[in-house]
Amino acid sequence: MDWQNRCPLVEVQGIPLLKPIVTHWERVERFKAEPGDLLIATYPKAGTTWTQEIVDLVLNHNDFEKCKRAPIHERMPFLEMTSPNPTLSGITTLEAMDPPRVIKTHLPIQLVPTTFWEAGCKVIYMARNPKDNAVSYFHFDRMNLVQPEPGPWHQYLEKFMKGQLGWGSWYDHVKGYWREREKKNILYLFFEDMKENPYQEVERIADFLGQNLSKALIDEIVQKTTFVAMRDNPMANYSSVPDTIFDRRASVFMRKGEVGDWQNHFSSEQNAIFEEHYRRIMADDPIPFRFLI
Ligand code: A3P
Repeated sequence: MDWQNRCPLVEVQGIPLLKPIVTHWERVERFKAEPGDLLIATYPKAGTTWTQEIVDLVLNHNDFEKCKRAPIHERMPFLEMTSPNPTLSGITTLEAMDPPRVIKTHLPIQLVPTTFWEAGCKVIYMARNPKDNAVSYFHFDRMNLVQPEPGPWHQYLEKFMKGQLGWGSWYDHVKGYWREREKKNILYLFFEDMKENPYQEVERIADFLGQNLSKALIDEIVQKTTFVAMRDNPMANYSSVPDTIFDRRASVFMRKGEVGDWQNHFSSEQNAIFEEHYRRIMADDPIPFRFLI
């Protein structure tokens, strides 16, 4: 994509998004989902790529060669993402693909094009505890030269808590999909469950997608989607993105893949403030997030 600089954020319906996305927003709004399309939705850095790779292996019954046909962002286009040149965009790639397609988005539920709901599309939502999610996003923004400058960690954490990062408030995002999960055929997953019991979660994904997989096949999918296996898989680790976009001296895409890394970043004072804020903001929606496993 022909990016030149870190992009500012501009709001669509109160949600801050990268400026080129907003410039070409009309194309996202007009996108026509087809019955059978599957949406993988996440807040950025919640485990999107991990979910995508599992879904591809499940749908292709663990045909690993087939799942290495292209980098993950080509196999499963990123709905709203566009470079300043709109011909290089998720929508353009999607329009050239035959349905049913698997589509990635970070949009909060209220910005998902309505045709997804009209067509009755299934959605897999992956959520990650906000402390690890914020840490992962911070390191991603340090290395992704398209994203706004992250600044120091303490300021970044404040922005996360205020919903001022790209794609808006983590709190509203996780709540939005949680509230609609039964009405809208959303499989709501947690990064921490996937880490703790990947077999069980892969089986849930297969069931949701109507795929009857043997135990052996599920075991193999688990093995092919460990952190190390994906880190070393050039079709899943974003190694094809040039250094001019991903500054790998700052951080790497497949960074740690752990639960609890937040403990290496939050001071005890930051943690106390965060906990109090979290309890208040999440009081209405007791979503069972776990901060350690
Ligand atoms: P960390 O930065 O904590 O390492 P996304 O795909 O939504 O951008 O999320 C990226 C995060 O998921 C990164 O977290 C990355 O390391 C982690 N991740 C990717 N694949 C993983 C896997 N197979 N197992 C565990 N974590 C994984």
